[in-house]
Amino acid sequence: MQYRTGKELRELFLGFFESKGCRRLHSFSLTPDDPTLLFTIAGMVPFKPYFLGIKTPEFTRATTSQKCVRTNDIENVGHTARHHTFFEMLGNFSFGDYFKKEVIPWAYEFLTEYIGLEPERLYVTVHVTDDEAYEIWNKTVGIPADHIYRFDEDNFWASGPVGPCGPCSEILYDQGEEYSCGKPTCAPGCDCDRYLEIWNLVFMQFNRAEDGTLTPLPKKNIDTGMGLERLASVVQNVKTDFETDLFRPIIDETCKLVNVKYG
Ligand code: SER
Repeated sequence: MQYRTGKELRELFLGFFESKGCRRLHSFSLTPDDPTLLFTIAGMVPFKPYFLGIKTPEFTRATTSQKCVRTNDIENVGHTARHHTFFEMLGNFSFGDYFKKEVIPWAYEFLTEYIGLEPERLYVTVHVTDDEAYEIWNKTVGIPADHIYRFDEDNFWASGPVGPCGPCSEILYDQGEEYSCGKPTCAPGCDCDRYLEIWNLVFMQFNRAEDGTLTPLPKKNIDTGMGLERLASVVQNVKTDFETDLFRPIIDETCKLVNVKYG
């Protein structure tokens, strides 16, 4: 796999989805105009009115690298190699346009042909009920059955207790045994850093009400999110996101200022 900087990876992603007809937009504000959220926790947040059918966009495909603060993961920060407060989410979005049969092969094409990840290190997860996504991964893309896992709550994504949501499919990269927690049960779905979730593809098709009721959205949508720093940690072959070129220069400069050695 070719070494690439964080900046190169961001550009590669946005350019790839532009070539698939997505409109490239700038990152939106970290503090959204949304009474249900304090921070922009995902790339989809600015597009919620489009998913809900409240507003009609001028375009039906978009791509962004969105600045995020994920408050819902905050208790993991400092305990794993992959969680941090601020991060950038690489996303591509369909507002009633492309759906599973397009987005799944595109994600695979990007990771294997553009980034150069070895297919045998990739694992995917789908929702327990989602035979359609399973078939696309297995039959169209060619992921072997023993690399596809099915989960329930872990494969259903929502930005909060109310709002647009849907089943999702995660793409995991096997970083190898040295990253494993060592438990005999360590497998895709384990909380440790071995099977690193790099990308989440959400099939946004419901609106959840306060009482938990799911109502189908007017159209089926796509919301995907890949952690730029996680992708960089894999491509740059470093143990944690903090050692990528997106963070390391800041850490090194801080070390110099306070005269300590990193690590
Ligand atoms: N919204 C989904 C997530 O944050 C995919 O972008 O995981």
